[in-house]
Amino acid sequence: MPSRGIVILDFGSQFTQLIARRIRAKGVFSEVLPWNAARERILQHDPVGVILSGGPASVFEAGAPTIPADIWSWGRPVLGICYGMQLVARDLGLAVERAGKAEYGHTRIRANPDHPLFRNTPAEQSVWMSHGDTVRGADGAVAVLATSTEGEMAAFHVPPKNAYAVQFHPEVHHTAFGDTILENFLFSVCQAERNWSTGAIVEQMVNEIRATVGDRRVICAVSGGVDSSVVACLIDKAIGKKLHCVFVDNGLLRAGEREGVVDLLGSHLSAPLEVIDARARFLERLEGVEDPEEKRKRIGNLFIEIFEEVSTKRGPFEFLAQGTLYPDRIESFSTGGPSVTIKTHHNVGGLPKNMRFELVEPLALLFKDEVRAVGAELGLPRDQLSRHPFPGPGLAVRVLGEVTEEKLAILRQADAIFIDALREFGLYEKVWQALAVLLPVKSVGVMGDARTYAFPIVLRAVTSTDGMTADWAELPAEFLRDVSNRIVNRVPHVNRVVYDVSSKPPSTIEWE
Ligand code: XMP
Repeated sequence: MPSRGIVILDFGSQFTQLIARRIRAKGVFSEVLPWNAARERILQHDPVGVILSGGPASVFEAGAPTIPADIWSWGRPVLGICYGMQLVARDLGLAVERAGKAEYGHTRIRANPDHPLFRNTPAEQSVWMSHGDTVRGADGAVAVLATSTEGEMAAFHVPPKNAYAVQFHPEVHHTAFGDTILENFLFSVCQAERNWSTGAIVEQMVNEIRATVGDRRVICAVSGGVDSSVVACLIDKAIGKKLHCVFVDNGLLRAGEREGVVDLLGSHLSAPLEVIDARARFLERLEGVEDPEEKRKRIGNLFIEIFEEVSTKRGPFEFLAQGTLYPDRIESFSTGGPSVTIKTHHNVGGLPKNMRFELVEPLALLFKDEVRAVGAELGLPRDQLSRHPFPGPGLAVRVLGEVTEEKLAILRQADAIFIDALREFGLYEKVWQALAVLLPVKSVGVMGDARTYAFPIVLRAVTSTDGMTADWAELPAEFLRDVSNRIVNRVPHVNRVVYDVSSKPPSTIEWE
């Protein structure tokens, strides 16, 4: 963990992670901690400044989150954003009132461009507001830095406390000069250092892995996805042959997946990559199973059995490598406690008690875009790093109902046509995830002069930032027409293609 970064105390804003990413993009390390984190933890890495995020609460609510009682004795500049501004204001004796009317969306402010926080920004500028309560009543110790055209206070500075506050959100791109304002806070106010670059991240992680692992051995399951590929390459760079990578072909993969993983990692790793052909075992385990959760359970359990067999045969291994990312580890505002979500089904959470591993999680400090940058630094090709997410249970949750070899083969062909066409039309990187689903029903069609009675394929493509919510992607009609023709003409047993126009919620991205 680098020192002299910025700590962001999270009051529950949907933009908290965005603040951290914006700061890191400027080469300054930033970490998100819950608003009620202990002082020792906040100051552990000697931050040069503290940001208080926005949040959904109102300072008038009983039990609303507060700022640390001794924050003004830390000797660090503090920037309050939105709800953070109201907390700073109330703590320093300014009046906070319920505004007659909320300011929401694009708002114009007049700011003092001579003040360091607004340096290099125009006197009048557009910002993004989203607040009900408002700050009033500045006295002599408070410098008002900006006012909205509605006459509300939009920014202030209390020099004796080194306290800064903005009512708007500098982290969202709707705030025209938000980036400059953040930069001013980082470099003019906090004198932050640019010590967070991809090269530095890789070097630091390699050193940390070496220090943690020493002479012991690490086992790593790779899936072909971005995270596990980057984890494997990082650990390989750190400890080489003391790493053992395992790729399980469960028969639920996309066309060409296994060959792709072997080609890619085989050429990048000095550590052995063991490929296990478990296609028949997974199919057998899924026989007669229709319930989606039962499928997941069986796939997860068999994965663990296989993993156990490998680690007994090739072990002992003291460490298990995992691709946990920073967003999975950020403690949620609502619980205030650790809420580590482990995404893949092949994770340590599901391993039996007698398999004790220590964890190596080299990506645990990184956002997804940083993982991609690290992957590029390690020489992984761009098309590998921009791949869509693919679920652990694979095509088993896209063949609805019972999974059979024949149905997997149909879906695999349709999926490959869809994904290849997205790339061909330059649309692949415009959607967050795209997939094909095979429905367990048949419908009537006509081909040549003959009646057909065959399966429909559903195409689904979504835009999203994190998969928690998603919108269906508005793919061009000519593209959909082309893909539909290709699928119906080339894939036996398919006579119909439909496009899923549901958002999440209320639907999910996968159909099972
Ligand atoms: P849903 O369907 O819940 O999917 O909207 C959200 C994201 O999670 C992926 N997903 C899974 N990933 N194991 C995984 O590793 C699973 O069981 C699983 N189910 C869904 C899905 O592909 C999407 O990216």
